[in-house]
Amino acid sequence: MTILQANHRDEIDAIRARYTSPRSATLPLLYLAQDVYGHLSSEAIREVAEILDLPPTDVFEVVGFYTLYYSQPVGTWMIQVCDDVPCCYLGAEELVEALTHVLGVGEDQLTADGMFTVQRVKCLAACDRAPVVQANLDYLYDVTADKAEALLADLRARAADGKKRGVSGRFAEDFEVGSGGKLTHVSREEPYRARQFDSPSAGPSRGTKG
Ligand code: FES
Repeated sequence: MTILQANHRDEIDAIRARYTSPRSATLPLLYLAQDVYGHLSSEAIREVAEILDLPPTDVFEVVGFYTLYYSQPVGTWMIQVCDDVPCCYLGAEELVEALTHVLGVGEDQLTADGMFTVQRVKCLAACDRAPVVQANLDYLYDVTADKAEALLADLRARAADGKKRGVSGRFAEDFEVGSGGKLTHVSREEPYRARQFDSPSAGPSRGTKG
C-alpha cells in the first residue's frame, strides 16, 4: 500500500464523501497527494486516478493544465513570482533576476539543497500590492529585488523552524515583506472590510436594503 493510502485514508474518504461524482474530488485529492509526496509524479497521478476510478489520462490532463500542480520535484519553498504587467512595472523582472542570482540557479530549477524553486506565473490577483510572490501559496506583498536575499534567508529560517507551508495552499496566509526582507503576517480581509464600511463613498454593504 502507498504512503498516501496507508496514512491518509480518513482524509481521502472525507474528500470523496464531499462529492456525489468521484471526478469532482480530483483537485482536492491531487492537492493532498502533492502535499504528501512533494510533487505529482506519474505514479502519484495514476494513484489518484485509481482511487477515483478515473482513466489516468483524465487526471494527467488536469495536472498539465494547472500551474499549481507540480509534475517535477520542487523546492521546500516553491517561489512563484508574478510577472504580469503591473508587477513588472514595479520590479518583477529585477526580482526574478535577484532571486535566481542569489540562489545560483535558473528559473524552474531546483537548488542543490532542495530548498527553493523559482517560477514565473501570471497575475496573482493582488496587483495593488505588486510585486507579488507566492511562496508555497502564501501571498507575499511588496517584494522588490532589494529584499530578495533577506527574504530567502527568512524562508530558509522558517523551514528550519518547521513553519514551512504545504504546497497545496489549503492553509495559505498573507504576509508583507518589510525592508529587511522580514515577513509580517497581515489579514487578507481587514483592508477590504475597512474600504467597504468606512469609506463615505462606499455603497451599501452586501445584504443591506435601501
Ligand atoms: S499583475 Fe501581479 S498580481 Fe496582478
